[in-house]
Amino acid sequence: MRWLLLVATLIGSSICGREKFLGDQVFRINVRNGDEISKLSWLVNSDNFKLNVWKSPSTFGRPVDVLVPSVSVQSVKSFLASQGLEYSVTIEDLQIYHEMDSIATDFPDLASRVKIGCSFEKRPMYVLKFSAGRGGQRRPAMWLNAGIHSREWVSQATAIWTARKIASDYQKDPALTSILEKMDIFLLPVANPDGYVYTQTHNRMWRKTRSFNPGSPCVGTDPNRNWNASFAGQGTSANPCSEVYHGPHANSEVEVKSVVDFIQNHGNFKCFIDLHSYSQLLMYPYGYTVKKARDADELDEVAQRAAKALASVSGTEYQVGPTCTTVYPASGSSIDWAYDNGIKYAFTFELRDTGHYGFLLPANQIIPTAEETWLGLKTIMEHVRDHLY
Ligand SMILES: *[C@@H]1O[C@H](CO)[C@@H](O)[C@H](O)[C@H]1NC(C)=O
Ligand SMILES: [Zn+2]
Repeated sequence: MRWLLLVATLIGSSICGREKFLGDQVFRINVRNGDEISKLSWLVNSDNFKLNVWKSPSTFGRPVDVLVPSVSVQSVKSFLASQGLEYSVTIEDLQIYHEMDSIATDFPDLASRVKIGCSFEKRPMYVLKFSAGRGGQRRPAMWLNAGIHSREWVSQATAIWTARKIASDYQKDPALTSILEKMDIFLLPVANPDGYVYTQTHNRMWRKTRSFNPGSPCVGTDPNRNWNASFAGQGTSANPCSEVYHGPHANSEVEVKSVVDFIQNHGNFKCFIDLHSYSQLLMYPYGYTVKKARDADELDEVAQRAAKALASVSGTEYQVGPTCTTVYPASGSSIDWAYDNGIKYAFTFELRDTGHYGFLLPANQIIPTAEETWLGLKTIMEHVRDHLY
């Protein structure tokens, strides 16, 4: 018995291999003359450091903002010091794994960080678990997912804002408190970590995973066409170069498989919400068929109320309906899988905006988006709390 526990502990804490990728930092480097420009150019063009220039120098004296991946932070600092280049770190931890750690540390009685697997490129997949329950019983639970499509940045940002909101409003906001008295919340802010890193280092518009496709020059599978719900049906592609490539088989993507395994092992999920952007839509099953879901009327009613609560904050209008007829047919999606596997309250949010900025939503809209979305989420969670089955 004891050695079994030990083995379980070792497996649970085993490392993926790239634990610190989300410690990237942004450096602001001063360049005062041509000599410094050439030193900086050498640094930026050197393959060793894998830097990414955010803002290039326009004239001397203007600082340059450079994204430094966590693995290069120490060596870049040494280089800058040895060359006498002045710099400051403007963003300590661009990424959000650090914030997940902080939340778990700040609210140890409510929040904990759980690793559910490793991505294709060996990055850890962390979930924040919020539980006010005692003991080990499997309370009814809700799954909140974000960033399955990596370029939809406001979704990861909204998720991490929501995480701190849940932690800090517990025992202050009566509605949230009563939800947490009955249910646990699991929140996965970066469902596609490899894609998310790729959007920051190579291609801002990357959507898919980063897994290889043997025999094809194209990389990645659409992780929201890869779930076991009418897999490879309408609204997907068998071509690995397509943005909606469904992958070689259902759950082929380890990022999807990790969530599926976790949810199935847990066995008591009642609600599954997937955050995407953009379009301002709140949708429920199905995506793979125009056929009406058994619970469509109830889901529609809840979604309409959630959209109304969301709009009450700053007037942001959402359209509500089943995925297939509201946007387009999409097979193999997360919420269809959840719904067909007994998780009745399954919803997809497409967050701001309606296309003016699209995926490139300005940073000053992150908090307004998160604030209004929170009211929508809470409306759904209250309904689930009152309709446990
Ligand atoms: C997909 O679901 C069906 C049942 O609906 C099951 O028979 C099959 O094994 C599942 N496939 C995978 C890859 O999990
Ligand atoms: Zn999406």
